[in-house]
Amino acid sequence: MKLLIKNIKELLQIREQHVDKLAGEQMKTLPKLENAYLIVKDEDIIDYGPMADLPQNVVFDQIIDATGKTVLPSWVDSHTHIVYAGNRELEFVDRINGLSYEEIFNRGGGILNSAKKLQETSEEDLYNQSKKRLEEIIQLGTGAVEIKSGYGLTLESELKMLRVIKKLKENYPIEIRATFLGAHAFPAEYKENHQGYIDLMINEMIPAIAKEKLADFIDAFLETGYFSPEETEKIIQVGKEYGMVAKVHVNQFTAIGGIKTCVENNALSVDHLEIVTDEDIAILKDSKTMPVALPTCSFFISIPYTPARKMIDAGLPLALASDSNPGTTPSGNMNFVVSTACIKMKMTPEEAINAATINGAYAMGVERDYGSITKGKKASLIITKPLNSFYELPYAFGSNLIDQVILKGKTQLF
Ligand code: NIG
Ligand code: FE
Repeated sequence: MKLLIKNIKELLQIREQHVDKLAGEQMKTLPKLENAYLIVKDEDIIDYGPMADLPQNVVFDQIIDATGKTVLPSWVDSHTHIVYAGNRELEFVDRINGLSYEEIFNRGGGILNSAKKLQETSEEDLYNQSKKRLEEIIQLGTGAVEIKSGYGLTLESELKMLRVIKKLKENYPIEIRATFLGAHAFPAEYKENHQGYIDLMINEMIPAIAKEKLADFIDAFLETGYFSPEETEKIIQVGKEYGMVAKVHVNQFTAIGGIKTCVENNALSVDHLEIVTDEDIAILKDSKTMPVALPTCSFFISIPYTPARKMIDAGLPLALASDSNPGTTPSGNMNFVVSTACIKMKMTPEEAINAATINGAYAMGVERDYGSITKGKKASLIITKPLNSFYELPYAFGSNLIDQVILKGKTQLF
């Protein structure tokens, strides 16, 4: 199966050589080709170049004319919780009326509210609710997504969530990685017995999940009132013994030394980072850990934005992800994430697109196949509607500027 996309006005994010991730100044450049072609064979990008060099006498099974349009690699969303049951719109109204996220949690809402709903939902129902959200993000241009558990909080329900993620992975062309987030919150019955819940995770949940090969990564909500740096360290170290790499929620509300713990334990990413100290920046510098910002979470629950400018200017890499979840970000729209990063975090469009493609791919371990237009990478692409320039993507923040989505070489019809 050979596909030609021709007359592309702007082909973005071309990387001739493989690039792992981009940091600091490197993020300012988004290499592009104007009036270009792109050739796909089966699932892969096999060639691209200026229209003048389009190989002649090649027979194509499908030709897409992209006159006036921009083509870029699909978004890589390295942090989501899109498998959940029901939603939390009542808490949304409670916040409008003045309650904080913390106050809602302390009343038994928040994560424990979602856990109760999920425990009462069958695996089939959970799959059907979740696949709608997956289909929605595919339409919005996401080609690879990480999905977390963490609304089960019992062995049975964590397995249920992870089995749903596995089934989504089997049934859809979007690339999926799964993360075990049993350490999302202490269930009410373990409020005064943290060690009891940690033992349950270590002795029962992690081994059972590893046995079924249900998780690539392990996560914890390292935060005041949730998991301490010491508790998180113990959990991610056991996860590591079972082959799960750490990706950790940290510094959302408070800085309690969590970033140091994560970097010392070779976390692949540290996510949220609404509160970042100078010491945290120094620790992240020259580490292999990718900082991940979730600006639409800040937008939705009105908390500070990750200090992206300060971090990038200090030479750090930065990835962007949606955090799609029922409590703090009921949206998996990466287009809006990129816009919000530009508008609220003062990232340039080039930096934001790099953060949502190449750096996102690194943050979920799929950088060999996703995140750039590189020969041999997966042909998972966004074809926009006609644009003046790609700057329109973040600029027209409320418009859907996507015309077509291609995943692993196949046009997605919706
Ligand atoms: O990434 N902060 C922790 N976890 C999620 C939200 C969980 C919830 O409120 O359901 C987040 O924001
Ligand atoms: Fe999250």
